[in-house]
Amino acid sequence: MNSPTIAIAIDGPAASGKSTVAKTLAKRLGLIMVNTGAMYRAVAWATIQKNIDPTDTDAVINMISEVVFTCGVEDGFSTILVDGFYPGEELRQDAVNGRVSKVAAIPEVRKLLVAKQREYLRLGSVVMEGRDIGSVVFPDTPFKLYIDASEEVRLARRSAEGLADEVAKRDAEDSKRKTSPLIVADGATVIDSSEMGIEEVVQAAMDILREKGAPEELLNR
Ligand code: DC
Repeated sequence: MNSPTIAIAIDGPAASGKSTVAKTLAKRLGLIMVNTGAMYRAVAWATIQKNIDPTDTDAVINMISEVVFTCGVEDGFSTILVDGFYPGEELRQDAVNGRVSKVAAIPEVRKLLVAKQREYLRLGSVVMEGRDIGSVVFPDTPFKLYIDASEEVRLARRSAEGLADEVAKRDAEDSKRKTSPLIVADGATVIDSSEMGIEEVVQAAMDILREKGAPEELLNR
């Protein structure tokens, strides 16, 4: 008999290491890894292409009704196309970092993307990372992790990637917005990764998933 489809929700602030943990975990367990930040980044990227002010809510809402965002999977990882174009590394540009929290605060943008995120479960079990996965996208999943790290460590991780990213500013905007703010979801277990290496965090995540009742055949893959 096939195991039931499960969703592992991984939330946390910018540069907390959640993407690396989610990727490693998904690979180890043979699950689809879904990076929801890339979806919000794709909307922010589209506003740059279309010369739209990201704070002009009506213009952004109008844009998302016209532009086609297509979500898929390639080699086990989520992908997103904007009108058939793959923005790839452009999603990590400074200009996108500066806009993404603004478009992510628009309820209509969230509604569109949350629906696309939930559709991934039709393809199989997922490790999904973002800000509201445990609170909004899959509130009923028992498998919720919140990966944290001190601001100092998060800034150092971003600059080690060669990226300037005002993580504190983005976190403040993401945490104080009205719709689906970044929070520790009900039932989520917090891992503070400040003093941990990636393997240690992944091991801690596996232990927590086991305690929360994840199927043994999944954890022993
Ligand atoms: O994970 P990331 O840093 O690539 O995410 C980029 C932005 O997208 C983040 O600042 C807030 C927004 N985001 C969100 O609002 N909800 C999510 N589930 C994922 C990301």
